Amino acid sequence: MQTAGPLDAEILAALQSACFPEEPWDAGSIASLCAPPEGFALLALRGDEPVGFVLARAAAGEGEILVIGVLPAERRSGVGRRLVEATLAHARQLDAEALFLEVAEDNGAARTLYMANDFFSVGRRPGYYKRPSGPVAALVLRHTIRKV
Ligand SMILES: CC(C)(COP(=O)(O)OP(=O)(O)OC[C@H]1O[C@@H](n2cnc3c(N)ncnc32)[C@H](O)[C@@H]1OP(=O)(O)O)[C@@H](O)C(=O)NCCC(=O)NCCS
Repeated sequence: MQTAGPLDAEILAALQSACFPEEPWDAGSIASLCAPPEGFALLALRGDEPVGFVLARAAAGEGEILVIGVLPAERRSGVGRRLVEATLAHARQLDAEALFLEVAEDNGAARTLYMANDFFSVGRRPGYYKRPSGPVAALVLRHTIRKV
């Protein structure tokens, strides 16, 4: 696991496109999202190759995962779990006491990953995601970060 930042925006944008082909983000937007002091990014590596990423932020005692993705060929091998754990550790270092995220109600893989890592639903936003097949609700999940 490696911390990343605006200088890695091209790599992060390539991962975003591979993980979310329907929602590519340009490198400039990603660079602003992961700019310190509030923003941060993490890269999961297999050898020297990036295989997963997180964009997140932490401010005023609260953290938020903006996006997390693992390359399709690398899924179900623990990369997502390691990214979540590393994000919690990084957010703790930034004095966050809770980590929030939004997940589509129909994203079973991500919901299972988060529930297994002690995220609990604290809200639901109906119709948040506009899909060709119709609107899908977002669940707002929260994890209480333990003090060490
Ligand atoms: C969600 C995502 C990040 C999970 O990454 P991953 O590396 O496959 O996750 P892991 O291998 O660490 O899985 C950890 C646990 O999550 C759950 N899980 C992960 N994928 C799952 C799936 N397809 N179905 C059911 N449970 C799943 C399991 O409990 C798994 O533990 P197990 O393998 O011991 O059963 C990945 O599927 C992904 O990038 N999806 C597309 C992008 C996305 O939806 N991001 C989340 C937006 S909120």
